[in-house]
Amino acid sequence: MRILFYTGKGGVGKTSVAAATALRCAQRGYRTIVLSTDAAHSLGDSLGVELRAEPMQVQTNLWAQEINALYELEASWGNVQQYLSELLAWQGVETIAQGELSVVPGTEELFSLLQIKRHYDEGKFDVLVVDAAPTGETLRLLSLPDIMRWWIARLMPVARALLKVVRPVVRRVTDMPIVEDDVLNTAQEAIDALVDVRRILTDQNVCSARVVMNLEKMVIREAQRSLTYLSLFGYGVDAVVVNRILPENVDRHFAAWREMQQGYAPHVEELFNPLPIFKAPHFPREIIGSVLLEQLGEQLYGDRDPSEFFYRGPLQRLERTVNGFDLIVPLPFVAEDQVHLAQSADELIISVGWHRHRVVLPQSLARMRANDAFFEEETLRVVFTR
Ligand SMILES: Nc1ncnc2c1ncn2[C@@H]1O[C@H](COP(=O)(O)OP(=O)(O)OP(=O)(O)O)[C@@H](O)[C@H]1O
Ligand SMILES: [Mg+2]
Repeated sequence: MRILFYTGKGGVGKTSVAAATALRCAQRGYRTIVLSTDAAHSLGDSLGVELRAEPMQVQTNLWAQEINALYELEASWGNVQQYLSELLAWQGVETIAQGELSVVPGTEELFSLLQIKRHYDEGKFDVLVVDAAPTGETLRLLSLPDIMRWWIARLMPVARALLKVVRPVVRRVTDMPIVEDDVLNTAQEAIDALVDVRRILTDQNVCSARVVMNLEKMVIREAQRSLTYLSLFGYGVDAVVVNRILPENVDRHFAAWREMQQGYAPHVEELFNPLPIFKAPHFPREIIGSVLLEQLGEQLYGDRDPSEFFYRGPLQRLERTVNGFDLIVPLPFVAEDQVHLAQSADELIISVGWHRHRVVLPQSLARMRANDAFFEEETLRVVFTR
């Protein structure tokens, strides 16, 4: 199965682009499913169909699904949450606050991603297109189960053994809710499943993330940040999509907007190099229904197959060292004496000849200094220390 994961800032056109892409894949003969993991669904509106929590066929070769995040959360994490609520109640936290406190922000969408694993395991579809919630917070959250699992593997046997001895005693001396085996089992199963989801989404022979943006300063910056995080967490990114480009013949009112967009356009080419950029114009009306979605797909991909791997290769990664981190940036076709580095507040500027590559640094790196850099086998290694 091929997975295409569309992410980007709020309102840039993720849902429209995801739906248009899915439609195009279906028309090329792939059995395709497009699913929305954003709790504020608009996929159905975009397709002009009322969708449900289960896959529904909307056209030949095309299925769509709006995942019910709360249901997924309840099914995969319900008794863990129940236990946390009891624990909070025991500590005197009000009932209304319990529900809020026992959910880590972003958890809901996280469990929605389990549907990806379901479709992957069932193997009924050739292409799965994901319309994700803004900013891709969830993908960052998805990197946590690795850590959680590490703890569970080490603590669980100890906890179980200990509980066997301690539980009867604790019951006699306090009414504190004690964690039961089934809660521990649920936690373990959910985390195992999430680790599987992460493995599927970081498999660069299966999944590509694509960042959708518009030609506006803050949107471009957010896109850069997403790109940094995605590649640092090991997700493959194979393209960026620039949506809503104003056409040449706009009226006076939009002339300044168009000029501004045109000013950013070459910048974007440079910033996201070597990723290919797919472009779509600003349509004269909102994009609803298959006719307009088809036009959007045509504008974006022309005769290219949207399920292709448009780019393969690592973008950048982070390695922990004794004193900090090494940032590793592949720079093919580049010689060492062409490379210059500069660090501003939260950016590392890598100049290669005429090209400038800006890496928006994750918070943990922005607080460190880039002290040294090496160039080996077409790869730049920047040494950050505290
Ligand atoms: N190229 C375009 N031209 C004109 N209208 C567009 C274009 N792309 C998207 N739209 C419209 O803009 C609105 C927002 O688009 P969409 O819902 O796809 O964005 P989104 O990134 O998914 O938003 P959210 O972050 O809220 O999920 C919709 O009404 C859509 O029809
Ligand atoms: Mg959307």
